[in-house]
Amino acid sequence: MCYSKTALNSQFFCGICTMSSASNSGILTMANTYPFPRAFHDFTICDIEEENFNNITCQSNDNVSHIPVMAEEVLSVLNPKENQIIVDMTFGSGGHTKEILRRCPLLKQLIALDRDPVAYQLSVDLSKQFRPGQILPFLGTFEDLPSLLSKEKIPANSIDGILIDAGVSSMQLDTAERGFSLSKDGLLDMRMDGLRNKDQPSAAMVINTLDEKNLCAVIKKYGEDKNAHKIARAIIEARAAFGKIESTKHLATIVASVFDSPFNKDMLGRPAHVATKTFQALRIFVNNELNQLSNGLHVAHHYLRPGGRCVVLTFHSLEDRIVKRHFHSIDLKAPKNMSLSYQQLQSTVKTLDNELLQSIVNKKWTPLQKKVITATHEEILKNPRSRSAKLRVATKERGSGEKE
Ligand SMILES: C[S@@+](CC[C@H](N)C(=O)[O-])C[C@H]1O[C@@H](n2cnc3c(N)ncnc32)[C@H](O)[C@@H]1O
Repeated sequence: MCYSKTALNSQFFCGICTMSSASNSGILTMANTYPFPRAFHDFTICDIEEENFNNITCQSNDNVSHIPVMAEEVLSVLNPKENQIIVDMTFGSGGHTKEILRRCPLLKQLIALDRDPVAYQLSVDLSKQFRPGQILPFLGTFEDLPSLLSKEKIPANSIDGILIDAGVSSMQLDTAERGFSLSKDGLLDMRMDGLRNKDQPSAAMVINTLDEKNLCAVIKKYGEDKNAHKIARAIIEARAAFGKIESTKHLATIVASVFDSPFNKDMLGRPAHVATKTFQALRIFVNNELNQLSNGLHVAHHYLRPGGRCVVLTFHSLEDRIVKRHFHSIDLKAPKNMSLSYQQLQSTVKTLDNELLQSIVNKKWTPLQKKVITATHEEILKNPRSRSAKLRVATKERGSGEKE
């Protein structure tokens, strides 16, 4: 494997970048405005080792033990109806897709997208159990969706409902070789795309290559871990002493060395490993998850019909903040701790007259709920993953987007 350390570090923070990954299709050009570093899309990486999941076999749909999070609430706000077209932008193991089709067997079409080749294969398998064409499986990221839809001649303003269940799937977490999980020893990989994109570095490449300052920035920004400095130092020292850090267990042990105990308490007072936030940070960084989510919401808006519904489940505050800001038309770059009403007030004060008028005219979404929806106590007991879930739903403004 050869890739330039200096390139990785010097190009690490490119700040606000403009990206037009969807523009090949000529349909939609997205400005990637989320003010966080991008993953290493521009770095030269030659000769990626093909050691990982070429051999992972896809389990059949029936064997995948996955409980879709907040399925009741998701179905109730998505409200799929006969003859509609719904896009599940995060197919995963198909938990929500199956529930949508179970409750609405006369749905015209369900488009199932996932960037993970294993999930894609599951969607292909599932599609065979339904009427031909009723499930349309797509392999790609949110940013690939415009070109995939255009190949099928599906135009803007035509989709009735869109679901995004963000983040990592239980299937990805449970497969040790994917390197997402703290509790299962595996190679530190974490690429949701598998080996589809040869220029996407694995988590091991990131951990073994970034300098201390940038490692600290990743852990702080994406893990929101106040011990980021100490953790980054420990990683650099471990690299110097023992060489490359290749496995999930190895990284977890290094992070734990910074703390008095390897476990602290989570929101529910249950033990959580101290490396959880570092793992979250790496995963978000490797998969460019925040920019993907932000751009995914632009794509969703473009393809929904006016009045169509966008339903989003998120699992940590960084993601939820992005969704909230899209749905409430708040500047993505505004400071994070301002209350919503204060931000709206600020923007009103700053932008009286023309700009305010423009923002009203350009309002893109109408949130359907005032408050974020969370899982019930009963669901949290049955499915602990739902404890941090936040559900938001908005409709595309009528009159918005027809000229896009
Ligand atoms: C939480 S799981 C979805 C689980 C699914 N709702 C179910 O019930 O089985 C998230 C899935 O979204 C996929 N994903 C995450 N970000 C994505 C992106 N930017 N583009 C496409 N797929 C993405 C992941 O690969 C993963 O399979």
